[in-house]
Amino acid sequence: MRYVIVTSVVLIIIGCSDFGETVSSDEPKVPVNIQNIFDDNCIVCHGTSGGMSLAELVSFDNLVNADANGYNAVRVFPGNPDSSVLWNKITNTGRFGQQMPPGNALSFELKIDLFNWITDSAFQR
Ligand code: HEC
Repeated sequence: MRYVIVTSVVLIIIGCSDFGETVSSDEPKVPVNIQNIFDDNCIVCHGTSGGMSLAELVSFDNLVNADANGYNAVRVFPGNPDSSVLWNKITNTGRFGQQMPPGNALSFELKIDLFNWITDSAFQR
């Protein structure tokens, strides 16, 4: 009997963790290629402890239609890179403070990836 109970508890825990993964995959997320840019170039400063985390599970919500801190604009305005603080910062327009990453511009290719994401798919939740 004890064996049956222990086995059941283990199965319930396994079952619950599977269920948890299913739920979290329904959360809005940025595409993998975009998250890779954040992981490689931004997370060192925009990690979980900073003001604007770009960690995988929160990057979408912290960017898309999210008010910027100290600027009168949103960080990512779906369909409109020009109005997005993120796009202005990575292209160093000077409209919203300094370039991102500071002193170390992204490659042209990565900027285009971000442009396309803001233009085409930041709408998707
Ligand atoms: C060396 C540290 C550092 C790195 C790397 C970095 N940032 Fe930042 N970021 C900052 C600091 C500090 C601020 C706040 C000052 C400012 O707004 O410029 C900031 C602000 C921002 C903001 C404005 C947030 C707000 O609400 O005010 C955005 C958007 C942003 N960063 C995007 C990025 C992206 C995208 C990357 C990677 C491509 C990146 N940053 C890499 C340090 C960094």
